[in-house]
Amino acid sequence: MRSMLAEVNGVKLAFSDSGSGDAVVLLVHGFPLNRSMWEPQLGALRSVCRVIAPDVRGFGASAAGPPGPLTMEQHADDLAALLDVLDVREPVIFCGLSMGGYIGFAMWRRHRQRIRAFVLADTRATPDTPEGRAGRFAMAERAESLRSSASAVEAMMPRMFSPTLRPGTPQEVLVRAMMTSTSARAVADGARGLAARPDSLELLETIDVPTLVIVGEHDQLTPPTDSEAMLARLPNARLERIDMAGHMSNLENPVQFNDVLLEFVRRLAPPRHVPSVEPQHPPRAPTGPPGRPPTP
Ligand code: MLT
Repeated sequence: MRSMLAEVNGVKLAFSDSGSGDAVVLLVHGFPLNRSMWEPQLGALRSVCRVIAPDVRGFGASAAGPPGPLTMEQHADDLAALLDVLDVREPVIFCGLSMGGYIGFAMWRRHRQRIRAFVLADTRATPDTPEGRAGRFAMAERAESLRSSASAVEAMMPRMFSPTLRPGTPQEVLVRAMMTSTSARAVADGARGLAARPDSLELLETIDVPTLVIVGEHDQLTPPTDSEAMLARLPNARLERIDMAGHMSNLENPVQFNDVLLEFVRRLAPPRHVPSVEPQHPPRAPTGPPGRPPTP
């Protein structure tokens, strides 16, 4: 994957930008990961649209900026600025997994005109519980005192995949490598930023763009009940469960994940290279009540 750098809000963000077409998909990774997690999706998506995959501030090959919590708001402002730098004027299909989804909620709060559709994968709209927040702060302190992400890796790895995935599989090796390569500072500042995120449950009711909610049936970190709770509030959404997959559903069952993702993107944006055909008959006037178009 070719990596590029762009200066946004005072930091250099790394990203890939491939494919072409009217539709633009922005892929936003989880914590404490980087854009390599989207490898199985990139090839599939770029045959139908333009796909931009950044490393958010502090992660992967992106610079960290000044010390302090890496908030969802900061990430959202960075992504909006990145779209400006790349001259993406049309609204994008925002696809975020887990932390990527939390960043999506901040994008909707601050830059909603940039979004034409959402894919919210293995994520949730609720904030951390007090115990969850305490766990984040403990993770941050351990990373700082050990100057390593190792304790975060050991704490998180057992819950990233379905319980039946055997250690040593390529997906497991990839996720472990991504986490291990994340700096102690990104783990610490990232964990504190996650702890600071607000409740987005009520925000969901305002997300009127077409939304695809995806969840691995064995997700232990953001279980299917979290996705069902989002679906109940989202006015224009549908839910797809990914079989035999845990939290990293895009890596554990990429075939099914890509099927539902591509079908959603294709329905929003007609595939390229299809010649437009003149209708044989004049189109019929719509007969249904006016309102929001149906979710693809
Ligand atoms: C992620 O995958 O982004 C994290 O597990 C999110 C979280 O810890 O809440």
